[in-house]
Amino acid sequence: MNASLPFLDRLGVAHPIIQAPMVGVSTPTLAAAVSNAGGLGSLGLGASTVDQARAMIRATRTLTGKPFHVNLFCHRPARADAQREANWLAYLAPLFAEFGALPPMALREIYESFIGNEAMFGMLLEERPAVVSFHFGLPRADWIRAFRERGIVTLATATTLEEAALIERAGVDAVIAQGAEAGGHHGVFDSTACDASIGTFALVRTIARQSKLPVIAAGGIMDGDGIAAALRLGACAVQMGTAFVLCPESSASIAYREQLKSDRARHTQVTAAISGRPARGIANRMYFLHDTHTPPDYPIAYDAAKALHAAASAQGNHEFAAHWAGQGAPLARELPAAELMQVLVQEWRKRTTASRCVAPTDDAL
Ligand SMILES: Cc1cc2nc3c(=O)[nH]c(=O)nc-3n(C[C@H](O)[C@H](O)[C@H](O)COP(=O)(O)O)c2cc1C
Repeated sequence: MNASLPFLDRLGVAHPIIQAPMVGVSTPTLAAAVSNAGGLGSLGLGASTVDQARAMIRATRTLTGKPFHVNLFCHRPARADAQREANWLAYLAPLFAEFGALPPMALREIYESFIGNEAMFGMLLEERPAVVSFHFGLPRADWIRAFRERGIVTLATATTLEEAALIERAGVDAVIAQGAEAGGHHGVFDSTACDASIGTFALVRTIARQSKLPVIAAGGIMDGDGIAAALRLGACAVQMGTAFVLCPESSASIAYREQLKSDRARHTQVTAAISGRPARGIANRMYFLHDTHTPPDYPIAYDAAKALHAAASAQGNHEFAAHWAGQGAPLARELPAAELMQVLVQEWRKRTTASRCVAPTDDAL
């Protein structure tokens, strides 16, 4: 059985709505606006250095006294493979040539995994954000224990029942059930295994049945009806990413916003060609590369895609960008975060009288 009201109390939020941590899109201003509106605002720290991460946490604290959430990437550290990387760059070279550019001579691991990043771990223990979450896997068990001992709530993403079981065994406080509809990177633990691509409905329902942990539903949830549906399936809260991209407080580029507001938002796809791991976004030329070449390890491949995007976008071409978005993208609304939160809560309250986990009350508004 899920025990959600105590869980929402532990998170310190009035509403069961988590704004997803989104590297490149979430900002201290966005996170603070969501937390101030009674949800859980979040920062994506997966691509940050320790100093950048600390600065973002402190900037958020200047904007809200409410709890917020920070997210780390726990992928297997990248394995460099000079031949594979050279092959990939040779494969992309004609695309660079379209913009009069050359591919980089070599590729870098552009950010470090949280696994083994002692300095990041130490910084988090010092700063003590209310909630810390993990994507692509889990850190060491003693780190998870240390967070708990300091009163930090931990969450981790699962895309299968097996990953949810590992999360429960590791002593994490709640599981984020991320369905295949989700925008951004799919949090699969082993990216070399087949992506099970389980949809949000089936995943939330099966994990809620199997697990004793509170379940947070993620993937394709865009409005109050979606929130109500997820809660009825057994989720205690939802984590929404694409729904918040158009908020003026996000750092999404103008081109990204234009595409998300256009008919192109109807066509999202999953590709590993951009970063080296499967991620869903608005389809562009990166999604139609032939699978005859294997991209380098995550996030080494991202270095190549970012260089190609930089060359193309310098000439006004955004066909190589990482415009992450979920299948609900056509439902995205362009509203300030506080207003979006208010609309979501009103829509959700209209749709639900009670759920297994959360009974909305007047206090929740
Ligand atoms: C632009 C974007 C960036 C994302 N970045 C992260 C991230 O840094 N860390 C993470 O755990 N999830 C990230 N995600 C995935 C979200 O946590 C969540 O699973 C997803 O947004 C849910 O699907 P939805 O976009 O349909 O709401 C990202 C999603 C988007 C849309």
